[in-house]
Order: sequence, then C-alpha cells, then structure tokens
Amino acid sequence: MKKKDHSSRRNFLKLSSLAGLGLSTTIFSSYKSEQLKETKKEIGKLNESSKRLLKLFNLKYPFFQAAPGGEKLAIAVANAGCMGSIQLAWKKPEDAYEIIKRLNNETKGNYYANYVLHRGTKSLDKALEAGCKNFQFSWGTPEKSIVDKIRNAEGTLGIQVTSPLNTKKALEHSPDFLICQGIEAGGHVQGTSYVKDILHEIIETAGSVPVLVSGGISTGHDIRNVINMGAAGAVMGTRLIATIESDISDFYRQKLVEAQENSTVYTNCFSDKWNAMTRVLRNSTFLNWEAAGCPLLGNKPGEGDVIGKKENGKDIYRYSTAGPFEGATGNLEAMIMYAGKGVDKINDIPSAAELLERLCKEFENR
Ligand SMILES: Cc1cc2nc3c(=O)[nH]c(=O)nc-3n(C[C@H](O)[C@H](O)[C@H](O)COP(=O)(O)O)c2cc1C
Repeated sequence: MKKKDHSSRRNFLKLSSLAGLGLSTTIFSSYKSEQLKETKKEIGKLNESSKRLLKLFNLKYPFFQAAPGGEKLAIAVANAGCMGSIQLAWKKPEDAYEIIKRLNNETKGNYYANYVLHRGTKSLDKALEAGCKNFQFSWGTPEKSIVDKIRNAEGTLGIQVTSPLNTKKALEHSPDFLICQGIEAGGHVQGTSYVKDILHEIIETAGSVPVLVSGGISTGHDIRNVINMGAAGAVMGTRLIATIESDISDFYRQKLVEAQENSTVYTNCFSDKWNAMTRVLRNSTFLNWEAAGCPLLGNKPGEGDVIGKKENGKDIYRYSTAGPFEGATGNLEAMIMYAGKGVDKINDIPSAAELLERLCKEFENR
C-alpha cells in the first residue's frame, strides 16, 4: 500500500499554517494577484471539444470545480482562470442571492451554480435575479420550465450524466456541457460505472456537446488522460476541497492528506432522507457498522447517537450525511468524510491557485 510522505517540510508548513491561521482572508488575497498574473499564459495540446469549452466560458484551463468547497474556493478557482462552482440547492433564496452578487463582484462570472435535483431548485429564481449565468444539475434532468428560465436569461446549462440513456434524456434540453460522473467520485455517487467503462459511449452519444469527467481526478496527468480519451475537461471535488480556501474543517483536510489507496469505500452506510450511495473515507462509524455485518437502518450500531453539532448549532447524528465542515464540533472523526478514489494522490493543502498552477504544469508535462 502506498505510504504518503508526511515528513516533508513543505507538507508540515502547510498543515501548521492551517492549524495556526485557519482560513484567513489575508492568505486568500495574497494568492489572488499571483493567480491573475498566471492567467496570462497559454495552454496547448487541447482537443476541439476542450477548446469549445474554454471559449464558451472564457477559461484558461478546462478544469472545473465540482459542487463542494464554498464561496471562497469558487472565487479562487475562477480567478485562476478555471471554472468555479457553488452549491445552491441547500441555500435559502435570499442567501443564494447574496452569494451570487458577491461571486459576480469578485470574478468575471466564470462559475456555475450546482443544483442536486432531489433537493429542489427553490433558490434558482433568486440566483437568476442576482445575475447567475451558468447552471449545472445533478441527480436528474431539470424540467423544461427551469431550462426555459435559464435560456431566457441567456444562461448556460450543464447536466451530470452517468449512462448513454440519461445522456440522451439530457440532450433533449440541448445542454452546453455534460459531466460524466464515475463511481470513483467522492460524495453522493450518482455514477454506476467506472469512467473508463462508460466515457467513450457517453462522448459518442453526446455528439458535439462537450463532456467533462468527474471522479477520482487529482493530478494534471489524470486530466491529460481523460482529455486523451476524448473528454473536454475535468471536474474535481476531493482534490479541490483539500485546499486552504475550502469550507471544510482542518481535521477533514488532514484526513484527506493522510488517506491512502484503500482509504475510500463506496457504501450505503451513511444515509438520512437522501438515501443514496456515497464514497467516503473509512472511519470508525463505517468500520463498526461493517464489523456488525452492515445492518440496515434501524439496526445500525450507535444509530441515533448525537456525535456533534454543525456550525449553525444543529445536531449531527451518527450515520448522518452532514460531514465535518467548517465550524462543526464534536466527534469529527465519526462523521461522514466524502472523498473520491483519487484521494491517495493528495499530499498537501495548497492554495487553489498554487494547486491549479501545478495541475497545469503536470497537464502540460512540464
Ligand atoms: C464533499 C463533497 C460534497 C459534494 N456535494 C455535491 C453536491 O452538492 N452536488 C453535486 O452534484 N455533487 C456533489 N459532490 C460530488 C461532486 O460533484 C463530484 O461528482 C465529485 O466530487 C467528483 O469526484 P472527486 O471527489 O473524486 O473529484 C460532492 C462531492 C464531495 C467530495
């Protein structure tokens, strides 16, 4: 099993600066000007589909943030010339409005709002009103009325797909891009196949619509591989939340750095109202549940225990899908920690700009 080098001075400095300073905006701002300088350089060796994607969103790199990470990360990613992302399905309409206003002030608009359709789209009207232009949906295909609202506002549309059949359904809305999520992905996993087994067929079905790959991508080499397979770009969740600007706790960050090749599991151990498969780090809650024979809801060990609190003071129960995000307190180790299969390649906690520059160099093989 691969061992990570935790003794490196670089790694130590990153983690200790996190422990001492938290997510200071000073760190964030000092990186921002460097990111802007970096965006002057050009990227080569791209397929036609990637070029179309870059042009559509005025990007420097075909690298997309996945839904998680929060506002500061979305701004940092966008200002590094990539596509930022913001989860809006859980937000109140008035909060979504303020978030979009801030994102539009701080970026050139190269970010998208993510909606998990199981959760609804109650903040979408306010997001549109605030000037959000790019929308992406997962776990279903949006209704025509939603698509019409986005098109009437001259917005763009992305849809997460996992099979040729749901790709065909998504194409009925003439999306601007598709995201092919594989079973390698961290978080709630809509994907049912490994990327390598499904991507080719999805790209063929999609025709001229750019398809990005999501799941297990941590390095520029990973991105190069999927682009060589015909994808237009890559979407990163786990790699990008292991950065200074993301909205997760330092404990969770450290666990992502420590994770090895076999550290994630695709499981139905954790569930609440949203009863879906997840890919997560193996933690004590998972190990005790597995040791008990993977019992069903109602018979899980320690079910109903309050193991901590969210930042807003609400209880977090064992097996809940609420993780140790920023501000969570209690037994953080026992909480769900979403992570994709590429987590073993995460060895540090850089700023988003530093990470994206590194990914670009690896992508270019420099
Ligand atoms: C912490 C976390 C939260 C996530 N939340 C969402 C979400 O709100 N909406 C969504 O469509 N996908 C969500 N995902 C899945 C990502 O969009 C993406 O498919 C996944 O992160 C890609 O795999 P990777 O983590 O290996 O890069 C989440 C993933 C993680 C790791």
